[in-house]
This record gives sequence, C-alpha cells and structure tokens, in this order.
Amino acid sequence: MQSRADENCLILEIASLNMQEGTFSKTANRVAIRRAAHQLLDQPKVLDDPLALRIIGSEAADELRSNPKEHHAFSRAFRAFMAARSRYAEDELARAVAQGVRQFVILGAGLDTFAYRNPHPGLRVFEVDHPPTQAWKREQLQAAHIPVPRSLTFVPIDFEQQTLETGLAPSGLDTNSPTFFSWLGVTPYLTRETCMTTLSFIAKMPARSGVVFDFAVDPALLNPGQRQALAALSKRVARYGEPFQLFFDPEKLQDELKNMGFHRTELLQGKELNARYFKDRTDGLLVRGSLGHLMSAWV
Ligand SMILES: C[S@@+](CC[C@H](N)C(=O)[O-])C[C@H]1O[C@@H](n2cnc3c(N)ncnc32)[C@H](O)[C@@H]1O
Repeated sequence: MQSRADENCLILEIASLNMQEGTFSKTANRVAIRRAAHQLLDQPKVLDDPLALRIIGSEAADELRSNPKEHHAFSRAFRAFMAARSRYAEDELARAVAQGVRQFVILGAGLDTFAYRNPHPGLRVFEVDHPPTQAWKREQLQAAHIPVPRSLTFVPIDFEQQTLETGLAPSGLDTNSPTFFSWLGVTPYLTRETCMTTLSFIAKMPARSGVVFDFAVDPALLNPGQRQALAALSKRVARYGEPFQLFFDPEKLQDELKNMGFHRTELLQGKELNARYFKDRTDGLLVRGSLGHLMSAWV
C-alpha cells in the first residue's frame, strides 16, 4: 500500500513531464471512447450523442463492442462522469442561448461532437485546441464523413504558448458579445498561471458570458481511497505523456473566480451530478468518488 508521501511524490514526478510535442492528445481519444461506450452500453443516455461512435473510427468502435472491461465498475463510473460533464456543459449552454448568447467557444475540444450536431440556430461555435490534436480531429471527421458546418471556426492554440485572448483575436469571435465557454478535461494538464489567465479573460467578457469547466481536487483534501484513485488516474495519463499538474481547493477556487469578476458560480460534485442526471435508473450507473468536480461561472 502506498503512503501519502509516496502518492504526493508520484504526482509531483509526473507533473514534471510535458504533453508529447507534435502528436495528438491520447487523453482526448480516451475520453471520446468513453462517450462512445456510453452510447452503446447505457440506457437511458445522459448524453445523447449520435456522432460519438462515428468520430472515434470504426476500429475503435468495433473494439468497444467486444471489450468486457467496459462493464467494470471503474469504467462505468468514469464514463458516467464523462457523459455528465458534457451534458452539464450543453445544458448550461442551452440556458445561455435562451438568454441571447450566440457564441460558444469549446476550449481543448478534443473529439467533442457538439459543433456537428448543434441544435441552436444562429449559434457560432469556435473549437480551440492544441494544433496537432485539432489536425487529427479534422482527419477523424473526414474519415467518418462528418461535415464541418459553416457555423464552426477552428482555432489552433497552445494555451501554454499563447494567451486565449491573442489566440482568438484572428478568429472572428466578437469579444463585445456575450459568449459561453466550455473547458472540459483540460485544466489538470495546464500550469496554474495559464489556467488563471484564461479564466480572467473570460471574466472580462460582457455580461451573460459564462464558462463550465472541470478540475482536479488537491490530493491533500482527499481521503485515502480518493487519493489512491487520483494517483492511479494520474499514472495512467502520465503514461500518455499528459501528466496532471494542476489541482484546486474547490472553495478557494470559487473565491478566486468571484475576485476575477464572475458574479455567480456553481460547484457540482458527484452527489449533485447523481441527483441531477442519474436518479431513478435501474442499471446503477453513477458518478463515484470525487476525482472530477464541475464548476460553472457567470459574468
Ligand atoms: C482529456 S482531453 C479533453 C478533450 C475534450 N474537451 C473532451 O472532453 O472530450 C484534453 C484536451 O486538452 C487539450 N490540451 C491540453 N493541453 C493543451 C494546451 N497546452 N493547449 C491547447 N490544448 C491543450 C488537448 O489537446 C485535448 O484536446
């Protein structure tokens, strides 16, 4: 059994690695496969995504159909969180659109399919991602014969090399209009400075702008079981060349968001997500543990 000090060393050690230059994000592929598994294996669906299986490619989709590991408790809980975080972001987006928001920026989009099934007439979508991952996504789209709508603009950015503000400048995004942002599965891979600079930029957008993002909790605030689960997940993503390096205290993060200028925040942990999206199911699908926390913040 690992000691707390060993676990912290492991987390620090993997944080010294960097996302492998020049290749697409393996974690983006993994989480897209989890969403595809949700379409195949869970009923009712928390996230109804008819493109999720197509975008991962036929080989990965065939593998999913015959992989018994998908029925393991960890796999089920993990894909429950993947489905819930996308569903929450899309629900919050729908509320923003109802209030007149017409721009949606998906930060670190990976193989997210929202832009290709966008149900909101007049909503412009901007997909921001690390350039090699965005190039790979465009190949996946082409291979799956998924058309790129005119409402979508691709914006290749490395968050660690360029601020979101300068990266978005040539994209045609109107920074004088309220805008909704999603940032799912990305903040743990960034430096604190990059994360806070990005959130501060969003906080300065016009009223009715908002963001939904998830984050990893400081291991010191977790119980031993949760720390062990985080260490296991950290080890796995580090093997993909994408180590976790940023952790938050949820309450302090809410204070920091308010200080930046967000006037309302909402924090959702497993309990709230289960009450909102997984109640009355007969298959027992649930978000477990406290690895993933979701936050929404509104200007
Ligand atoms: C775990 S994936 C999540 C993808 C997507 N949001 C989803 O939920 O399917 C992490 C994403 O963050 C992006 N990312 C990580 N570090 C980045 C950086 N420095 N600049 C731009 N994108 C980055 C990766 O390219 C990848 O698309």
